[in-house]
Amino acid sequence: MAGKIPQFFIDQLLQQVDIVEIIEQRVPLRKAGKDFHACCPFHDEKTPSFTVSQNKQFYHCFGCGQNGNVISFLMNYDHLEFPDAIEDLAKRQGLEIPYEKGSKPRSASIDYLLPILDQASRWFQQQLRKHPEGKNAINYLKNRGLSGKVAQRFELGFAPDSWDGLINSYDEKSVPTTQLETAGLAIKRDRGGFYDRFRGRVMFPIRDHRGRTVGFGGRIIDQGEPKYLNSPETPLFHKGSELYGLFAAREEIQQQGYAVVVEGYMDVVALAQFEINNAVATLGTATTAQHLQRLFRLTPHVVFCFDGDRAGRDAARKAMSIVLPEMHSGHQVSFLFLPDGMDPDDFVRENSADAFRQAVKESTPLDDFLFQRIDENTDITRRDGRARLIELAKPLISTIPAGPYKVLLTKRLSELSGLDDEKYVDAIMQRKNQKDKQLPNNRNKTKSQPLSPFAYLISLLLQYPNLIKEMPPLDDLDSIDHPAIPPLLDLIARLQTNTESNTASLVEGFRDTKHHARLEKLAVWDHKLVAEENKAVLIQYHNNVRQFIIDQNIDKLLTKAQVVELSDLEKSELRRFTRLKQSLRLDSSDNDC
Ligand code: UTP
Ligand code: MN
Repeated sequence: MAGKIPQFFIDQLLQQVDIVEIIEQRVPLRKAGKDFHACCPFHDEKTPSFTVSQNKQFYHCFGCGQNGNVISFLMNYDHLEFPDAIEDLAKRQGLEIPYEKGSKPRSASIDYLLPILDQASRWFQQQLRKHPEGKNAINYLKNRGLSGKVAQRFELGFAPDSWDGLINSYDEKSVPTTQLETAGLAIKRDRGGFYDRFRGRVMFPIRDHRGRTVGFGGRIIDQGEPKYLNSPETPLFHKGSELYGLFAAREEIQQQGYAVVVEGYMDVVALAQFEINNAVATLGTATTAQHLQRLFRLTPHVVFCFDGDRAGRDAARKAMSIVLPEMHSGHQVSFLFLPDGMDPDDFVRENSADAFRQAVKESTPLDDFLFQRIDENTDITRRDGRARLIELAKPLISTIPAGPYKVLLTKRLSELSGLDDEKYVDAIMQRKNQKDKQLPNNRNKTKSQPLSPFAYLISLLLQYPNLIKEMPPLDDLDSIDHPAIPPLLDLIARLQTNTESNTASLVEGFRDTKHHARLEKLAVWDHKLVAEENKAVLIQYHNNVRQFIIDQNIDKLLTKAQVVELSDLEKSELRRFTRLKQSLRLDSSDNDC
């Protein structure tokens, strides 16, 4: 993987780049007051609700709720991964990324592998056409029903059955064979020297999300072991994050509105032969969260295809546990079970493309699958069976991010279990997953919902970083537990150490934390009262936070006092907080005058 990009560099980049310029190159913007408006590129609309603030270096759509800084914009609009978005921006500014020490910079240590793999791919394709044995491979592909056009689209090739055909195709002086080994193309012999990894196989180049060849799968022609040989993990190639066919399928996935995930290389290619071009395959591994995140970047709807047999069901169950935590609001996942012993390749040939599309339409929604599996293991005609139902479903449902989908499944669980009191089931879920509930990832929170006093303050500071200079210290923040306190403390520390921060760079600093999505929302929260940087509002918010902390502490101590005698220390704390409360009241009545 690429080396870590230091935060200071990202901050620097965000201070140099202008979000308006970057967005304008992709979406026509119109100036309106301080901000820029456009029709939102992320949803269909006729009247513009997409706003770009040059001041905050932040964009926000009031229609669909999408928002973020220029990095998020490139990730969403150009479908880039985070490091690629940074690379693009750095390149634009003519900056070299100072990858952190200890981790190797990608450009120096990995990028040299790309042309090597690209050359290998071209060589394999050439062998398919020119090598005397290439005919066998072509016949094999033809017998499997593939046209030359589809073979070309997937850049299929042929590795002749020799020990050094590929190795000899490189000039050793410019490409030492050790580099071929690193690229996963050559294997070192015990007694010295190297030999080709792929021999006598039809070759499937694996391209990353930017279309660059990063590895290969090779299928034996006819019979033999192993049936498929894949590139090993290399600095460029990670099975857990790549999906076969993704690059070729990306546009069609967006157009069709869903992606189909299958198991085999040949399934992807065969479906394409039948003009189903939105399929991708995992690479002989189980589905990973990274796979899903890649797909969800292109489309909210993913359909997993499994064999109808037991192994297929086991695979589906495994996939389910990976998928549930990725079910942010708007995401949709279903499972398609093919008839026993059939893979998508067999199915589409035996039936038709339309039959396959129909099967996709009728595929099982993720939650139906979840409840079916649990239902198989419980007898819900019995009371203890219904209790077991809750026990089995709880650990699964609790991994879903807070939002409407989680609420709906909880509701369904309460119906199925006969526990009419939905609140009760809800309480069980919450106990299991309190954190999740209190600091929701917040894609669905509407603007009208009230914020906690901490969130108000966070939001104001994010939007008007200069206000930090006006803010009195905040005491006792560590005396109570509230999920918004850690990000607030973090934010204050960042503001105090980096006076150059703007909204975009502040939010960026939280990207790898669970608070990021929440802070993105708070960065565009509409503080109706605030026209400009407004010290009075800051003081109001600051007081609200203090009030909250003081009340909580008094509450806590008084409740305890009802049960046991308070220690001397606790008693003096109670006196202190009570005094604070009085002085706060006096303060605010001062302000009223
Ligand atoms: P299958 O054996 O189901 O592949 O393995 P398939 O695509 O249907 O192959 P055909 O139709 O016989 O050509 C599914 C996937 O599992 C991985 C490969 O990624 C393959 O596409 N696999 C399978 C291996 O990595 N090694 C193997 O030996 C077999
Ligand atoms: Mn097959």
